[in-house]
Amino acid sequence: MKKNIITLGIESSCDETSVSVVKNGREVLSNVINSQIEIHKRFGGVVPEIASRNHVEAIQTVTKEALEKAGVTFNDIDVIACTYGPGLVGALLVGVAYAKALSYALNKPLVGVNHIQGHIAANYITHKELEPPFLCVIISGGHTHLVHIKDYTEFEILGKTRDDAVGEAFDKVARVIGLEYPGGPKIDRLAKEGEPNIELPHTYFDNLDFSFSGIKTAVLNLHHKTPDINKENLCASFEKAITDVLITNTTKAIEKINIDKVALAGGVSANIFIRERFKSLEESKNIKVYYPEKVLCTDNAAMIASAGYYNYIKGNISDLTLNAVPNLKI
Ligand code: KG4
Ligand code: ZN
Repeated sequence: MKKNIITLGIESSCDETSVSVVKNGREVLSNVINSQIEIHKRFGGVVPEIASRNHVEAIQTVTKEALEKAGVTFNDIDVIACTYGPGLVGALLVGVAYAKALSYALNKPLVGVNHIQGHIAANYITHKELEPPFLCVIISGGHTHLVHIKDYTEFEILGKTRDDAVGEAFDKVARVIGLEYPGGPKIDRLAKEGEPNIELPHTYFDNLDFSFSGIKTAVLNLHHKTPDINKENLCASFEKAITDVLITNTTKAIEKINIDKVALAGGVSANIFIRERFKSLEESKNIKVYYPEKVLCTDNAAMIASAGYYNYIKGNISDLTLNAVPNLKI
């Protein structure tokens, strides 16, 4: 095998068109992210058809910019990796079709990447020393999973949400209390000004599954019944309740699989309060806690290139029949 492997990563599963060039799975040469947040803001959430159209318009220029910033040409690329699920089908199809066309035209191997595995891999970029096995807490707009990362391409799901994903709960609460999409970062900011002094329900199951709809509904009801309720305190209490549940199940998972490394991943892992609470487990549980740098928490193609690299070296290579799978499981 050639010494250095350069991967071109392509991400288009939701509202970010992103292309990245990554060397040997860990060294980012470029990571261009064209976010559509401003376009979707006025609708209060992502409109799938609008997302697809914008991916089509952006993908070629974003790719060109990623190659230029990395100082490479298509000839230098060894592997083309793209997200093929889970996500919005029309949005995914743009990246998949573009990656297949590149793979065919350039005669380079194609690797389909699971978006959730991409979020996990963001940690490999930020923490060059991190290697499996570890426990990963994936908290994004669409997913909430506790996963035992046994190896780079071997995963066991220990728990998942039975209703809302954590980011979804943040965004829904934010919308009702009058904050712009995406609400997670705005709640993060408001919560810092408040006190978590409002009691909210916490839901647990016999296994390590999660449920966040009870917390979300309690917050929404409080807001409707007492419109002048202090928003800062409400946000702080909401964030605390969500984090309590995440920390409790993570602690149980640490004991269950007897692991000494925990990584956070996904958009919500950018949350300051959640990061701090998890960091405190280092001392109380005698473990090491990791999270990606902020730009790698939310959707980006560098994490897809990294996961694509590890799939490639394991021989998980796709062909031109690769298709978008909107409900792809980890
Ligand atoms: O990983 P991501 O970009 O997309 C999915 O794969 O779903 O995550 C986006 C989610 C949104 O729900 C957004 O509100 C949330 O991550 N998010 C945050 C923060 N930054 C982004 N939630 C809480 N605090 C933040 N600082
Ligand atoms: Zn994501």
